[in-house]
Amino acid sequence: MSKRTVLTGITTTGTPHLGNYVGAIKPAIEASHSTDVQSCYFLADYHALIKCRDPEVVHRSTLEIAATWLALGLDTDRAIFYRQSDIPEISELTWLLTCVTAKGLMNRAHAYKAAVQENLEKGEDADFAIAMGLFSYPILMAADILMFNANDVPVGRDQVQHLEMARDIAQRFNHFFGDHFVMPEAVVDDNVAVLPGQDGRKMSKSYNNTIPLWLPEKKLRKSIMKIVTNSLEPGEPKQTEGSALFAIYSAFANPEQRQAMKQAFADGIAWGAAKQECFELINSELASARSAYEELISEPSRIETRLQEGAERAREITVPFMQELRQAVGIRRLL
Ligand code: TRP
Repeated sequence: MSKRTVLTGITTTGTPHLGNYVGAIKPAIEASHSTDVQSCYFLADYHALIKCRDPEVVHRSTLEIAATWLALGLDTDRAIFYRQSDIPEISELTWLLTCVTAKGLMNRAHAYKAAVQENLEKGEDADFAIAMGLFSYPILMAADILMFNANDVPVGRDQVQHLEMARDIAQRFNHFFGDHFVMPEAVVDDNVAVLPGQDGRKMSKSYNNTIPLWLPEKKLRKSIMKIVTNSLEPGEPKQTEGSALFAIYSAFANPEQRQAMKQAFADGIAWGAAKQECFELINSELASARSAYEELISEPSRIETRLQEGAERAREITVPFMQELRQAVGIRRLL
């Protein structure tokens, strides 16, 4: 039996932060070492254009995210690691899928509906400033997935609807043109921590509460010192529940460390001391990868080479599959 394919994309619009690391990057890199699946990870730079019109941001983010995955030890002998825009078959497939996708299906996409809702609340025209990229984005995402006949797609909960749409689109294509696509499934891991940010809300760029992954040591410490706590004095027992500091510490701790910190809270550890321990723990996990990251980022050509190698491997799959799909829809040589 052939291996299952696990595939996921990372949109290149920002600098990786601790929340990305704990929630997505770390579990994916661990999974990349498994021998019983074929994993495909890619930099979704076409997706970046949907939200970002600053070429420098897209370009820099692509570099930073690629360097991050490589520095953290992504096994690129096993996993296929590539940049979406290096695979022209993905855009080609996007059009074939666009031609079978019901407009009504896209009308129901959460991201599009939220944008419309926001416009209406402001008294604007429903489609004010909404580009077709946002509207059709689930089709591009379906192409990313179906191009590799991915079985399992690890994503956040907010992406589950897009997987349902990918299945719907795949089914329609299969119905018209024969059985070409397998049905992908979203994999949402409820065990991976959703990391709070410095203010206790989910760590997210949109809340401006992130701790960037590759801060230099001193800045990392400073950033951890800014995690919001309360005014309890040293010696006063503290609650772990609802504490952003405890949650962040826990995401990096082993069970014994977590238990010890829980006890320390109960015993009234000073906030400053708890933060110092949190800093030391996170720093020890990241320090060696940080040097690898800095080395890589100063030599983009090494990263580029790895991406080109990934693209070559990816295209061993996509070129012949696209050939098959073109045949299926009637786009082929005359004789
Ligand atoms: N849209 C996804 C996100 O915002 C990123 C993404 C793009 C993706 N293409 C994908 C994820 C294909 C899984 C599979 O998180």
